[in-house]
Amino acid sequence: MVIKKQQAVAMVPAAAWGIRSSFQSLVALLLTILVVAAIYLRQNNEQLFDYGTSTSSGPLTSRCNLFSGKWVFDNKSYPLYKEKECTYMSDQLACEKFGRKDLNYQQWRWQPHHCDLPRFNATALLEKLRNKRLVFVGDSLNRNQWVSMTCLLDSAIPSDFKSMHQNGSINIFKATEYNATIEFYWSPLLVESNSDDPVNHRVPDRIVRVQEIEKHARHWIHADYLIFNTYLWWRRRQMTVLWGSFENPEDGFYKAVKLPRVYEMALQTWAQWLEVHVNRNKTQLFFMSMSPTHQKAEKWGGMEGENCYGETEPVYEEGFMGDGASPRMMRVVESVLDELKTKRDLNVQFINITQLTDYRKEGHPSIYRKHWETITEEQLANPKSYSDCIHWCLPGVPDVWNELLYAYILQL
Ligand SMILES: *[C@@H]1O[C@H](CO)[C@@H](O)[C@H](O)[C@H]1NC(C)=O
Ligand SMILES: *[C@@H]1O[C@H](CO)[C@@H](O)[C@H](O)[C@H]1NC(C)=O
Ligand SMILES: *[C@@H]1O[C@H](CO)[C@@H](O)[C@H](O)[C@H]1NC(C)=O
Ligand SMILES: *[C@@H]1O[C@H](CO)[C@@H](O)[C@H](O)[C@H]1NC(C)=O
Ligand SMILES: *[C@@H]1O[C@H](CO)[C@@H](O)[C@H](O)[C@H]1NC(C)=O
Ligand SMILES: *[C@@H]1O[C@H](CO)[C@@H](O)[C@H](O)[C@H]1NC(C)=O
Repeated sequence: MVIKKQQAVAMVPAAAWGIRSSFQSLVALLLTILVVAAIYLRQNNEQLFDYGTSTSSGPLTSRCNLFSGKWVFDNKSYPLYKEKECTYMSDQLACEKFGRKDLNYQQWRWQPHHCDLPRFNATALLEKLRNKRLVFVGDSLNRNQWVSMTCLLDSAIPSDFKSMHQNGSINIFKATEYNATIEFYWSPLLVESNSDDPVNHRVPDRIVRVQEIEKHARHWIHADYLIFNTYLWWRRRQMTVLWGSFENPEDGFYKAVKLPRVYEMALQTWAQWLEVHVNRNKTQLFFMSMSPTHQKAEKWGGMEGENCYGETEPVYEEGFMGDGASPRMMRVVESVLDELKTKRDLNVQFINITQLTDYRKEGHPSIYRKHWETITEEQLANPKSYSDCIHWCLPGVPDVWNELLYAYILQL
C-alpha cells in the first residue's frame, strides 16, 4: 500500500478535530495509524531506492544518489551474460574473442553508497517494453550501450523470437513475442552533420548544421523511450558550422564556432525539437552523461606516454577524475536540461555515468578488438599506439549503465 504524501497530509486535520463520539475517536485512531504507516512506508522506500538528482513527479524522491558509490569485485553475480552467448555481439567489443586473457573487467558490480541497484531482470524489462519502442540515439558509445542492452535481453528470448535488422542509420533489435524493439539510431552530433553516414563518417573536415535535426528526429520522435548521448565528436577547439544545405554547399554560409558554444547551440536545437514535438504523455526521455576516455596514464599514476593498454584494475581512489571528460561540457548539458524542466515543463532524466565510468581504466578493448584498418609492423611493436581507450569491452561497464537505466525505466 502506498499513499501519496498529499493524501496523508490532508487526513491529519480531519483526524485532529473529529473526536466527538467514541465512533469518531475510533475513526480518528485508524486514520492516524494509516498516516503513520504511510509515512513509514514512504521513508523506507526512499532509503531502498534512489532517484539520483531527479526531482521528477515519480512516486519516490531522492535520498540516495545512485551515481555515487564504488566498484566491488563480484565474480558470483557477474558477468550478467557470456560474451560468446550474445547473439548480436559486435567484434569491436568482443575482447575475449580477440585475445584478452585477464577477464576480471567483466566482474565488477557498481555499489551505490546508500542503497543497492536493483538486479537486472530481462523478463521484467521485456514486459515493460511490450508493444513499445526503446531507441538509443547518438554516437558509438551509445551504440556500445545498445549492444550491451541487446546482450542483456538476448538470453531471455528464444532464438526464433528475435531478429536484428539494419536500415540506413537505424538498427532494430526486435523481441517478436513482445512486439518490442530496442533500436539504435546513428547521429553522433544529434544535429545534422557530414558524419551522419552510419558507415563512412570519418571525414577530415567536420561540418555541422547546428540548427537542423528534423532529418534524424522524425525517425525517433514517436518512440516510447529515448536515450540520447553526444559528446566525443565535439571534443575539439572549434567546429565549422554551416547555415545552408549540404546539397548546395556553395550557397551556404560557413563559420567556425568555438567549444562549448557550438555544443550549446546544437543542444538548444535538440531541446527545442523535443519541446515542440515530443508527446509528454507517452515518451520518457534520458540523457547519458559523457563516458570518459583513458588516454593518459599519468592521470592515475601510470607512466607518461602510456594509456589504457595493459591496465587490469580500476582506479580505487574515490572521486578520481582523469582528463577524459569535460566538466565544462557537462555543465552545458545540465543547464539545457534544467531549462527544459523549469521553463518548458519537459523532464529529461540525466544518467550521470561519468564519475563511475572514470574509475574503469581497465575496461576498454585496447588492442583486443577487430580493427578496421590494417595494423602496421610499427604499430604492432608499440601496442598502445593502436589501443582503443574509448569504447568498452562487453560484458563490462555499459552493462552497468543499463542497470541504472533499468532502475529508472522500471521505476524501482
Ligand atoms: C555526477 O556524479 C558524481 C558522483 O556522484 C558527482 O560528483 C558529480 O557532481 C555529478 N555530476 C553532475 C553533473 O551531476
Ligand atoms: C572469485 O574470486 C575469488 C577472489 O579473487 C577467487 O578466490 C575465486 O576462485 C573466484 N571464483 C570464481 C568462480 O572465479
Ligand atoms: C523477473 O521478472 C519476472 C516478470 O516480472 C518475474 O516473474 C520473475 O520472478 C523475475 N525474476 C527474478 C529472478 O526476480
Ligand atoms: C507493436 O508495437 C508498435 C510500437 O512499436 C505499435 O505501434 C503496434 O501497435 C504494436 N502492435 C500490436 C499488435 O500491438
Ligand atoms: C528503410 O527506411 C526507409 C526510410 O525510412 C523506408 O522507406 C523503407 O521502407 C525501409 N526499408 C526497410 C527494408 O525496412
Ligand atoms: C496528455 O494528458 C493530459 C492529461 O491527461 C491531456 O489533457 C492531454 O490532452 C494529453 N496530451 C496528449 C498529446 O495526448
